[in-house]
Amino acid sequence: MIAPLTWSDGRLLMLDQRVLPLREKWLELTTHEQVAARIRDMAVRGAPAIGVAAAYGMALAAKNGVDRDQAHQALAASRPTAVNLFWALDRISAMVSWQFADVLAEAKTIEAEDLAMNQAIGRHGADLLQPGWNILTVCNTGSLATAGHGTALGVIRTAHVQGKGIHVYSCETRPRQQGLRLTAYELIKEGIPFHSIADGVAGSLMRAGKVDCVIAGADRIAANGDTANKIGTYSLAILAKYHGIPFYIAAPTSTLDPKLATGDLIPIEERSGEELTHMEGVQVAPAGCPVFNPGFDVTPGTLIGGIITEEGVFRQPYQFK
Ligand code: MRU
Repeated sequence: MIAPLTWSDGRLLMLDQRVLPLREKWLELTTHEQVAARIRDMAVRGAPAIGVAAAYGMALAAKNGVDRDQAHQALAASRPTAVNLFWALDRISAMVSWQFADVLAEAKTIEAEDLAMNQAIGRHGADLLQPGWNILTVCNTGSLATAGHGTALGVIRTAHVQGKGIHVYSCETRPRQQGLRLTAYELIKEGIPFHSIADGVAGSLMRAGKVDCVIAGADRIAANGDTANKIGTYSLAILAKYHGIPFYIAAPTSTLDPKLATGDLIPIEERSGEELTHMEGVQVAPAGCPVFNPGFDVTPGTLIGGIITEEGVFRQPYQFK
């Protein structure tokens, strides 16, 4: 199984997701500032993986004798939407000890817990899938986006291993192409049958009766089930509703943020216009082209048929513990 992060010899090794799938390049990080920068520029991405990376960033800060609050603030400023980042930082900051060995042990625990949660999500989610189904997914929610196994892609992985004979439609996920670059990379490695599609293909596939279910991940889930996930997820939920197709979210409980009453309160990251105007560093838009580039959108809880967590499947009206 691919793991995006490995602690080794006092350093955090990070698989650089910006250059996948064409290169498997490992970055060696030794400071919390480096970890914050690599979260920001998306060398590591995916809500749970960001949380694990931040926890290891805190371990590096403890190792380097950095003030705990200072390290917490630097890492918290990296990306705003995925609550797992803040969940992991708060967990480390609430520890009595700021000794390196203790912080490192907690980071390793957070990583191990995430893997276990994903495997449980996989089992609960696979129960919802019928043999032979075509499942549409978006972005990358697999091993690369987590401590391993994945959330939405973890459900798909478990169903595949159970021999359900499923087939996947993986949305390209413009503008960063996490679906085309990363999900396709994982699906090929796992031998799971799939087709990558351009994002705009989803509606006509549904109309043609070729999608049985949509499963997406989450970056933050409010108390009423409103869910922030990769930009385009909301459109897929609307399309699924129109075509009478079940739409599920898969996420660990570390992605819940029940202190936010609704999704309107979720901070949505706005990313650089260059993600649209340039492809692989080459300018494709006219110079000066104005761009609006939100990284995420919010799908209302009312459009979600179930939120698959390690504790089971939550349905409306959502009552998270
Ligand atoms: O911008 P990204 O690639 O970090 O966005 C990732 C997503 O939106 C995922 O769907 C989400 O984090 C869940 S990953 C298990």
